[in-house]
Amino acid sequence: PVQHLADYRPWPFGLTETRLDLTLAPRDTIVRAALDLAPRDASDPQDLVLDGGAGLRLQALRIDGQAPDPVHVTRTDEQLIIAAAALPHAPFTLETEVAIDPADNTAFEGLYLSGGMFCTQCEAEGFRHITFYPDRPDVMTTFRVTLRSALPVRLSNGNPVGDADGVAEWHDPWPKPAYLFALVAGDLVAVSDRFTTRSGRDVALNVWVRPGDQDRAGFAMESLIKSMRWDEDVYGREYDLDVFNIVAVDDFNMGAMENKGLNIFNSKLVLASPETATDTDYERIEAVIAHEYFHNWTGNRITCRDWFQLCLKEGLTVFRDQQFTSDMRSAAVKRIEDVQTLRARQFREDQGPLAHPPRPDRYEEINNFYTATVYEKGAEVIGMLKNLVGDDGYARALDLYFTRHDGDAATIEDWLTVFQDATGRDLTQFKRWYTDAGTPTLEMTEDWQDGTLTLTFAQSTPPTPGQPDKPARVIPIAVGLIGPNGDEVTPTRVLEMTEARQSFTFDGLGARPVVSVLRGFSAPVMLKRPLDDATRAFLLAHDTDPFARWEAGRELALSALTQGDAAQKAYIAAIGTLAADEGADPAFRALCLTLPGEEEIATRIAAGGATPDPDAIHATRSDLARRIALTHQDLLAGLYDAMTVPGAYSPDAQSAARRSLRIAALGLLSRIDGGDRAAVLFGIASNMTERMAALAVLVRLGRATSALQILSDEFGDNRLVMDKWFSVQVMAAPPEQAVAIARDLAAHRDFDWQNPNRFRALLGGLAANHAGFHAADGSGYDFTADWLIRMDAANPQIAARMSTAFEIWPRYDAPRRAHARNALERIATLAGLSRNTREMVSRMIAAG
Ligand code: ARG
Ligand code: ZN
Repeated sequence: PVQHLADYRPWPFGLTETRLDLTLAPRDTIVRAALDLAPRDASDPQDLVLDGGAGLRLQALRIDGQAPDPVHVTRTDEQLIIAAAALPHAPFTLETEVAIDPADNTAFEGLYLSGGMFCTQCEAEGFRHITFYPDRPDVMTTFRVTLRSALPVRLSNGNPVGDADGVAEWHDPWPKPAYLFALVAGDLVAVSDRFTTRSGRDVALNVWVRPGDQDRAGFAMESLIKSMRWDEDVYGREYDLDVFNIVAVDDFNMGAMENKGLNIFNSKLVLASPETATDTDYERIEAVIAHEYFHNWTGNRITCRDWFQLCLKEGLTVFRDQQFTSDMRSAAVKRIEDVQTLRARQFREDQGPLAHPPRPDRYEEINNFYTATVYEKGAEVIGMLKNLVGDDGYARALDLYFTRHDGDAATIEDWLTVFQDATGRDLTQFKRWYTDAGTPTLEMTEDWQDGTLTLTFAQSTPPTPGQPDKPARVIPIAVGLIGPNGDEVTPTRVLEMTEARQSFTFDGLGARPVVSVLRGFSAPVMLKRPLDDATRAFLLAHDTDPFARWEAGRELALSALTQGDAAQKAYIAAIGTLAADEGADPAFRALCLTLPGEEEIATRIAAGGATPDPDAIHATRSDLARRIALTHQDLLAGLYDAMTVPGAYSPDAQSAARRSLRIAALGLLSRIDGGDRAAVLFGIASNMTERMAALAVLVRLGRATSALQILSDEFGDNRLVMDKWFSVQVMAAPPEQAVAIARDLAAHRDFDWQNPNRFRALLGGLAANHAGFHAADGSGYDFTADWLIRMDAANPQIAARMSTAFEIWPRYDAPRRAHARNALERIATLAGLSRNTREMVSRMIAAG
């Protein structure tokens, strides 16, 4: 059944408290629930409809202590319905007792077991697999939880009330929806610390891990403390309980979860040591710890009315974690990284059959909408809003949001109204960013006459499923002007485009300037401007806005990849100058030295209306890398040596920046040194960042056999390292071998496919090998489809998510499209396919 935004109705009952009593056992957990309910309108009796499916074995049901007449009780596949006739017209208590089987839960939704530990994942609709409940985010109440288990650590939300003789009690005083419920019971150890909030609350902090992993949990704890301080300093938000617990689990469908006072994490986003984690892992851990912590205000204290509003909490929380990372590390580098991710994932999503707005208005399975559009574009929309109302306006609006909506289940309309009320600005047109799908194209042309520069912009957004016509949006366009000698003559100004076509003038200019446009990527659009390579090279050398500067290099690179020899020469010369610029941040230089990925090149070609050829893209990109290496051999070799970071490993931004430049040089040099440097580096590096970079080079060159052996000998019992071991072999493989390697690895005894991280390592690794996945014979599609079918029976969320490997299938050539369609139809016609995968596959097929 399709859910529609327009069908929203408040729940006809009030819920004042939920009491849960769980006796944990792997195959037979008993859940007793007591819900204090009251009809909202006693004069209009309504049936009590609770969510909960076949996995709940109902053992008792009482209303104010009495079992209702069974004629008034109905069970459907997904609900328990108690007829209005059986309900009091005044407040009453509903008690249920169910038995569930966590050991059989391979979908990792609801209560499940991971490595002998009980844990939960309830967002979006997992709570209904634990007990019968109004499992919707606008039903909020306080919880009292009793946990019975012989396992030594027993955790739930809120504050601990007592823990003795195998029974722990928890009370969460903050009303919350069921999706924020969590429990954990296991044999765990904690890395602990304390934090005193600005108003003096003393909070006990714990990061819980399996015994033996404590040495790798310290960085997560440091990140948590930084996050707590930052949210006080920047947003004035304090923590509101006496304890904050984080637990790392090995089997987890997503990255992490913001359950009130008890965040549960995929262990790869908690555990880190120099020997096992890369710089990128450290940066992600810091960001995700912050993200989940920030949800305490943007998500928990203020939650979503319904799941259509998901971007209300996710877009805002991503935006906040991006701001946090910018403050902790290099803001310029962070912005460039975020734009790269947005283009690789969200622009790609917008280009295919799964395109949807940040606030969708229909879905079949909400778990299919935890997407780059809801998260990353949701964050971009907030960045634009901040650009339009200014920093002060943004700060006033956020203060108003927190005071006005604390304790609410809110909507995007509420959010926009806060901005209107705080700044007096009409946001009617701006709202289209939330309701309309697709990436606008922005074309810019210039006219220069007598000291006046006129910039004319034209916007258009291609049709997306269900949305053929797109009215003009308001687009903030940040522009600066650079004089012919390289000095900035007009600092950044934000132009507000509201029409389909609109001109802006700059007058009183002496000489014709070079336009630096869409500074900081001020709007998530595809910019098209006719610009020659010499001007791009000029901007790469002189632009004062780091994003625009990097972007000029990116455009040059894409031109070098798609145009001829002259473009290559211009590009190679320009990046040589930049790489040699010792005044520039090494991380920035590394970003400029890294060629656009094959996927990004394909997206660009498709956006230009052409059909990307994966093999040609791969060959051209390899040739260009080789040519860069040949031209700048000495420079790169010098950088490779100079960027060695002396002393013990530290994950700080400066050290990571130097390593990133060193690795960029290594990658290019490997195009001409046969991989000799990489082989040496793999042998001597003591940190995982350099070892993985070296290993990727060796895999690409087909000389990784002994390195892979060494790594598995050393880390065979470390799951997170072995995930890398699996993924690098497929991701970096020569495309023509990728599918065969993936097949071999799928037969490896350590390919524990039901573990989401391991499955993603292999299947996601193949999907990331552009020319490998899109092999002309369709073998990449077939292999992936086989595994999606197998995974769907065990874990629908993971299967549905991995199916997005196919999301841009319509952009390839006819033979590839035929293979892809076959693979998708083979999945679609399967009996017993999950709602998750069925929705994804049918949306993808419909577009072909
Ligand atoms: N709210 C979590 C986060 O953004 C994501 C959880 C989503 N889980 C799911 N099964 N859909 O951090
Ligand atoms: Zn989130």
